[in-house]
Amino acid sequence: MIRSLLKWPGGKSRVIPELRPHLPKADCLIEPFVGGASVFLNTDYRRYILADINPDLINLYREVKSNPELVIDLAWPLFATGNSKEEYLQNRRIFNGTKGLLDAARAALFLYLNRHGYNGVVRYNQSGGYNVPFGQHKTAPYFPEEEIRQFAEKANDTKAIFLCSSFQNTLRVMVGADEVIYCDPPYLPASDTANFTQYHTDPFTERHHRQLVVALLEVNRKYGVPVIISNSDTEATRKIYKPFKLHEISVQRSVSTDKENRQKAKEVIGVLKVCEGCGIAGGGCCPDCGPCCGDSTYGAMVKAGVFDEQDSFQ
Ligand SMILES: C[S@@+](CC[C@H](N)C(=O)[O-])C[C@H]1O[C@@H](n2cnc3c(N)ncnc32)[C@H](O)[C@@H]1O
Repeated sequence: MIRSLLKWPGGKSRVIPELRPHLPKADCLIEPFVGGASVFLNTDYRRYILADINPDLINLYREVKSNPELVIDLAWPLFATGNSKEEYLQNRRIFNGTKGLLDAARAALFLYLNRHGYNGVVRYNQSGGYNVPFGQHKTAPYFPEEEIRQFAEKANDTKAIFLCSSFQNTLRVMVGADEVIYCDPPYLPASDTANFTQYHTDPFTERHHRQLVVALLEVNRKYGVPVIISNSDTEATRKIYKPFKLHEISVQRSVSTDKENRQKAKEVIGVLKVCEGCGIAGGGCCPDCGPCCGDSTYGAMVKAGVFDEQDSFQ
């Protein structure tokens, strides 16, 4: 398992073995919610399009791809001396308040803040300021030097494209043939009292999940691309993601502050239900799901021998 360079809420490293069998073969994997990028790191597509709405995350990935050694050189001193509340707050002020910070310096600071902040939380205030409190780590957090190099190597080998973009834009402009879409959006809260994880200044609500399903159905109809999603296993998820076949999995999660909930998060992997003939949700694009077949399908009718007699007249 190749580890993410970040501690990212909702990271998929623990579910990779369960997820991988559901990801079909294709030339390119599109991830509109790339987050900690563990799916990118642990699959082997030839090409990747990796998008996220968080500009700091995408800046870090671009900088690591183009100059991993510079990011390492800039981040190393921050990790070496930065494991105190005073240093953390000072570095956070620099990150939030310095205009004209070089992209590589901003990337190094973001990596430092992510590893030294509270429990891998990612949170911004309404004016876009990064406002995660200090993590109070007893020993200095791990410096992911090897992970930076591995990420850069894979990003360059696969010519990965990093986009800072909303899922709507990514799905509008990036989808084409021989691609697979994997979506891991911010999860619907498991209960009314559970908190939303706020990766960005705007929360991701039920309305966004509904829009996501509509957009995914649209690109599937246009290009026939297979679509796979992950989400928490809740009633709302089951309602909103009805066009998907949902597979249940149990995942150990660590962002929750509640010890009980840390142990047993129920999640689902959803595979968009499509016609086996044309790969389109709802069908209608091949003899197998055409309207002439009524309740049956073309494939089932051939198998049952319906056309055998007609063939012998020709
Ligand atoms: C659950 S995380 C993805 C986790 C990832 N699969 C991993 O293994 O780490 C969800 C991601 O969606 C991003 N996000 C939130 N709202 C978004 C939007 N409207 N469009 C695109 N990305 C969004 C967040 O910044 C976050 O990185």
